Amino acid sequence: MDYYPNLKRRQAPPRPNPINEEIILNKKDFIVSRSDLKGYITYANDYFKEICLYNTDELIGVNHNIIRHPDMPRIAFKLLWDRIKAGEKVFAFVKNLRKDGRFYWVLAEVEPAKKNGKIVGYYSFRVRAPRFALKEISEVYKQLLEAEKNGGMKASQDLLNSYLSKKKLTYDQYVQKTFKRGFGFGGFLRGFKNIFN
Ligand SMILES: Cc1cc2nc3c(=O)[nH]c(=O)nc-3n(C[C@H](O)[C@H](O)[C@H](O)COP(=O)(O)O)c2cc1C
Repeated sequence: MDYYPNLKRRQAPPRPNPINEEIILNKKDFIVSRSDLKGYITYANDYFKEICLYNTDELIGVNHNIIRHPDMPRIAFKLLWDRIKAGEKVFAFVKNLRKDGRFYWVLAEVEPAKKNGKIVGYYSFRVRAPRFALKEISEVYKQLLEAEKNGGMKASQDLLNSYLSKKKLTYDQYVQKTFKRGFGFGGFLRGFKNIFN
């Protein structure tokens, strides 16, 4: 059973045409949101609203894909959902689409919210993606997207696997290695979540 039985799920409004202009997040601010079991938004913090340009009324009850950017490969979200549905947390670089069509990059930690050991929803905590990582990540995503266009999800999954095995890293090791060079992301988020929870 959903933890948010009264949440009215709604269709997201049509997404804007993307504009190739980036918004860079403040170094010290977090974007936080929560969702029900299907990714429909149940809470958004002020910074989320400030950055994505949608207000509370526009966000609550709508799926997180309201800010989905067409440059994001589907495999990234498959990986995310496989992990969180299995009760694990996941870190991911995500390019998001604002209401005005501009984009912003985040490094997100998404994890299940549990009650009596049962998953009742999900949280996402996001910080500014470290700049040095974006050149590589956006190139990887571009190739995954291209693989998907030609050969579907199987092709992008294979490409991702071969990319990681060349680096001799798992997906987690890859992301963690990347963000550990940037800042103490884990500790930073943990401290914040203690206040939030
Ligand atoms: C807690 C949580 C946060 C999410 N945050 C984002 C996000 O910031 N951007 C995004 O594109 N998708 C996010 N998603 C995934 C979306 O729900 C969705 O699966 C994704 O945008 C792909 O949408 P599509 O299936 O319509 O292509 C999040 C999911 C959860 C559970």
